[in-house]
Amino acid sequence: MKELKPVIKSRERFSSGLAIFFATLGSAVGLGNIWKFPYMTGANGGAAFLLIYLVCVLLIGIPVMTGEFYIGRKARANAVGAFESLKAKPFWKIIGFGGILSAYLIMFFYSDVAGWVYAYVFRSLTGGFAGISAQTAGAQFDAMAANPLTSLLWQAIVLIVVSIILVGGVKKGIERVTKVLMPLLFVLVIIVCVRSLTLPGAADGLRFLFVPDFSKVTPGVVLSALGLAFFKLSLGMGCMITYASYFRDDNNLLSTASRVAVADTIVSLLAGIAIFPAVFSFGIEPGAGPSLLFVTIPMVFAKIPFGQMLLALFFLLTAFAATTAMISLVEVPNAYFVEHFKMSRKKAVFLNASIMFVIGSLATLSSHKDALLSNVKPFGLTFFDLFDYLSSNILLPVGGLLIALFVGWVVKKESLARELSNDGALKISGLIAVFRFVITFVAPILLVFVFLNSLGIIG
Ligand code: PHE
Repeated sequence: MKELKPVIKSRERFSSGLAIFFATLGSAVGLGNIWKFPYMTGANGGAAFLLIYLVCVLLIGIPVMTGEFYIGRKARANAVGAFESLKAKPFWKIIGFGGILSAYLIMFFYSDVAGWVYAYVFRSLTGGFAGISAQTAGAQFDAMAANPLTSLLWQAIVLIVVSIILVGGVKKGIERVTKVLMPLLFVLVIIVCVRSLTLPGAADGLRFLFVPDFSKVTPGVVLSALGLAFFKLSLGMGCMITYASYFRDDNNLLSTASRVAVADTIVSLLAGIAIFPAVFSFGIEPGAGPSLLFVTIPMVFAKIPFGQMLLALFFLLTAFAATTAMISLVEVPNAYFVEHFKMSRKKAVFLNASIMFVIGSLATLSSHKDALLSNVKPFGLTFFDLFDYLSSNILLPVGGLLIALFVGWVVKKESLARELSNDGALKISGLIAVFRFVITFVAPILLVFVFLNSLGIIG
């Protein structure tokens, strides 16, 4: 083992490479895969959207994630402090502050949707979905999402659970939970896929997911695919900087980033294969939006042996995936408050969860067309949609662009090579050169292009 620099000594570390992989995957895999990816693919025309999404993951997602890993592990600090510790110009701290803002914006609506998932665990355990039809599934969802009291109650429960885990700290809290649950979730999603694929008319769903129709692609669709890639891989907001600050010195950063991105994409694809055949088989509208998961899955399990038990298990694991993702989200402002303001972990967690509940209630009360605040539309969007749009389509890609520019243009070539090769221990200079080319030119150019294109300036 190398000597640690003095400032690092007090920081926690993940205990092994596998723990790093699962913790990072625990951040990436969440409602993004199981809830957002299917409904956005459905709303944006299917396979063509999927293809653009995959290109974004490969050419922008993996490089930006590696860039964040570099920053976090080298600096061993929170998303704002990292740039001080790397002795960068104060301007670059904007990445960290933007990240904290994004973490809040995402949590405002994410904790609401996670609340629905928790509610569905509870309801499926009490047999509330047995023998359900498409209509009753829709009506049940509507009744829950439009009811202010139940929605807020579940959101509060979610935030309390996340807070309790976070007070436990990084190793005890995050590591323990993710190592067991990620593999289990994987197995269960595969079970749902098998069931969905054996439904009558399943082929239409597969065709929708895998045969592209480019006539549906508009600049807005491309921006949404890009935003989803950032959201999915927890990028552009300092989350991976924060996690990498707990990585071990001997971790292969490029390989971790690639493996996490591939595994995360597989989970998203499986979720798509689990949902779309059923959507087409039951005649549900693929562009139904945020309710898609909550209407489709109860029906997949409605009429099979042990269906209710499997349904409860599915939502339970989704709840766990959402929870590990939220842990990583809240950890961004948390780490900053603890390290910058010298707050106790408990205090920081309490403060963050409270802010998230108070402002997050605006999202919760506007998430459904019949909800209390659904007619309040600043900038033409409900609070729920606004928080989502601002974070996914603007802040994360801009954060990603800044990270790419920082790593590609500000960081010294030698420093990058040293960190990514673990001081020369890994013989991967060719790969590092490819990475540098992509992060310096390809990713920033693509990002700028997608932005300008979506604003109607070029393309
Ligand atoms: N990647 C998570 C998901 O797919 C969401 C997330 C975004 C988590 C940003 C952390 C940071 O659900």
